[in-house]
Amino acid sequence: MIRFQDVSKEFSPNNFGLKQVSFAVDSGEFVFITGPSGSGKTTLMRLIIREYTPTSGQISLFDEELSNMPQKKVTELRRKVGVVFQDYKLLPELNVWENIALPLEIAGQPQAEIESRVTDLLKLIGLVEKPYLFPSQLSGGESQRVGIARALALGPDLIFADEPTGNLDSDNTTAIVELLKKINQLGTTILFATHNLDLTKSDKTRILNLDSGTLVHDSKAKVRSVKPKEEKKPEKENSKPKQESWLGRLFTKPVVDTVKNEKAESKSGSEKPKQEKEKKNSKKKVAATEETVK
Ligand SMILES: Nc1ncnc2c1ncn2[C@@H]1O[C@H](COP(=O)(O)OP(=O)(O)OP(=O)(O)O)[C@@H](O)[C@H]1O
Ligand SMILES: [Mg+2]
Repeated sequence: MIRFQDVSKEFSPNNFGLKQVSFAVDSGEFVFITGPSGSGKTTLMRLIIREYTPTSGQISLFDEELSNMPQKKVTELRRKVGVVFQDYKLLPELNVWENIALPLEIAGQPQAEIESRVTDLLKLIGLVEKPYLFPSQLSGGESQRVGIARALALGPDLIFADEPTGNLDSDNTTAIVELLKKINQLGTTILFATHNLDLTKSDKTRILNLDSGTLVHDSKAKVRSVKPKEEKKPEKENSKPKQESWLGRLFTKPVVDTVKNEKAESKSGSEKPKQEKEKKNSKKKVAATEETVK
């Protein structure tokens, strides 16, 4: 699914984000990316979504080489990658429902589909009781659960969570790790960047450890093949069949992929269910959200 081959990113002479990094991640994996502040975790994420281009080396995503890819195709690929941020990046003027629904609106999904997906996602994150609260009314853990739901809204193949628990206490941290593991069991590949080594001690999850831009350890280092387009992962023993039925539906539904700003703008005024608050869905807001959900 992802392959880095001798990738370096040098921002300015001798200021490296990454140095000669090589690894591959298969579809369906859950991988911790660890390393101290400044070790290159966020740089890695930005290279994956081609927000940065490498100074040298090759990166492939979903079996496609990123370097010569036309921008239109990059935009298409980015829609298959959900990003979760340490500081949530929720839009303060939108409530929980609207924050989760917005990527779907931008993608031009029909209202019935949006309602169905947002309802599923609210169940997944355990916030069915709070769809009309605004970000300022949420706890950190709740905010991050909304951030995860938004990242999942388009049914991405990959989630890159960049220090998603950096602002949370230990209970909320555990809940977020559990939620991302559950999402992984349902078939989404997860890269989880953290400098909290306690998170990575408890199980046998693969760890890529960065230090000063160098990949110093890969707990499953071996020659890893990059598989062709993946079938869904077989379900794991400990997953619960009842939950899988509705979540499985969420992940297998086709997602509208012909996304254009014009469409988003024309959709942005569409009615929200049971909402009294008038949404000021300006072009600026849609543009900001497009940035956020990339
Ligand atoms: N846009 C940029 N311009 C110049 N240098 C950058 C840029 N982005 C990152 N760097 C440098 O690259 C190195 C890696 O930064 P990066 O943000 O990837 O680290 P990180 O592991 O995510 O750190 P943290 O845990 O603090 O988020 C740092 O030395 C940083 O200063
Ligand atoms: Mg970072």
